[in-house]
Amino acid sequence: MDKKTVLVTGGLGYIGSHTVIELLDLGYEVLIIDDLSNSNIEILTQIELITTKAPTFYNFTLLNKLKLIEVFEKHKIDSVIHFAAHLLVDESVENPLKYYTNNIVSLLNLLDVMKSFNVFNLVFSSSCTVYGEPLKLPVSETENIKKSSSPYGTTKIMGETIIKDSCKAYGFSCIALRYFNPVGAHSTGFLGELPKGQVKHLFPVISKYISNEANTITIFGNDYDTIDGTAIRDYVHVVDLAKAHILGINRLSQEQNEKNFEFFNIGSGSGFSVLEIIKAFERASGKEIKYDIKNRRDGDVSKIWADTTKAKKVLNWEAKYTLDNMVKSSLDWEAYHSTLNW
Ligand SMILES: NC(=O)c1ccc[n+]([C@@H]2O[C@H](COP(=O)([O-])OP(=O)(O)OC[C@H]3O[C@@H](n4cnc5c(N)ncnc54)[C@H](O)[C@@H]3O)[C@@H](O)[C@H]2O)c1
Repeated sequence: MDKKTVLVTGGLGYIGSHTVIELLDLGYEVLIIDDLSNSNIEILTQIELITTKAPTFYNFTLLNKLKLIEVFEKHKIDSVIHFAAHLLVDESVENPLKYYTNNIVSLLNLLDVMKSFNVFNLVFSSSCTVYGEPLKLPVSETENIKKSSSPYGTTKIMGETIIKDSCKAYGFSCIALRYFNPVGAHSTGFLGELPKGQVKHLFPVISKYISNEANTITIFGNDYDTIDGTAIRDYVHVVDLAKAHILGINRLSQEQNEKNFEFFNIGSGSGFSVLEIIKAFERASGKEIKYDIKNRRDGDVSKIWADTTKAKKVLNWEAKYTLDNMVKSSLDWEAYHSTLNW
């Protein structure tokens, strides 16, 4: 059987790179397009180190449609996984045009070029942010989509809408995966989350504090209606998440999808408060963690965790890694990365 070729946009980013590893391990031919706006070229070496395989890499922005066309001319692509996007909520509030341009125009270019080359299978990175503050917990896919409080969230809702309409009009087959909070790192310790600029996500912030690279941790809000007042999230291990993409690609390429546009929650199904996460890191590292409390951030929901029944039943996907795995792998990656000069 021919090796299937999968184009992974944003494939040197956090979730993209872990998904590329799963694809390469399964024998897929992988093409990556990434403009390195939030990733490091060294990640390519790490992928090769872990898999002993070399994906084909293109360094350009999806805003450049001509270059995108060249890639589709050069390769026979079977499916696309579209990760490439900017993703900082507060930055999107300060600079909405950056987010609408990058996240929406990239998607439009991609869909248009895919259509021209008759490539119709797409897995799209969506987010639980589309649910806002859910009316019912755990939140299932039947929950209404809410108006987003940030341009970033709006790009995810718009992205799903654009894709859904394109499925109907042009015959695309697409699966949108609504991620909860991806955390953790590869079991080798050689790959993990590596944001450029200010570190904002909770797990890398705590891991850096433990390795003495950061001196404060801020908790935003301790007056939520939760067990200890801090916000509750559903954390899912990035390798579990990566595997959901493989199931999505297989489902589409084997034409097992029931509808042209399908969407699934991808989370662990459990919620942990910020303080519970801090305690888990204290247990794993043996180090006491000091933190400041500040006001709630605009747009943060108080609590959300996933009903993953649909992903389990339809995709045969379920999270395997525990919170301890997530914490330990984050610390291992931080310890490894802190010895490098990139
Ligand atoms: N990490 C999360 O908490 C989370 C949660 C829900 C959804 N998502 C979505 O998952 C996807 C991947 O997220 P991630 O955490 O891996 O982020 P990331 O920033 O690590 O990865 C995104 C990658 O895309 C690249 N990129 C961005 N814009 C591009 C463009 N126009 N052209 C080419 N490359 C471009 C970046 O350089 C980066 O390597 C995003 O769409 C994000 O919105 C992430």
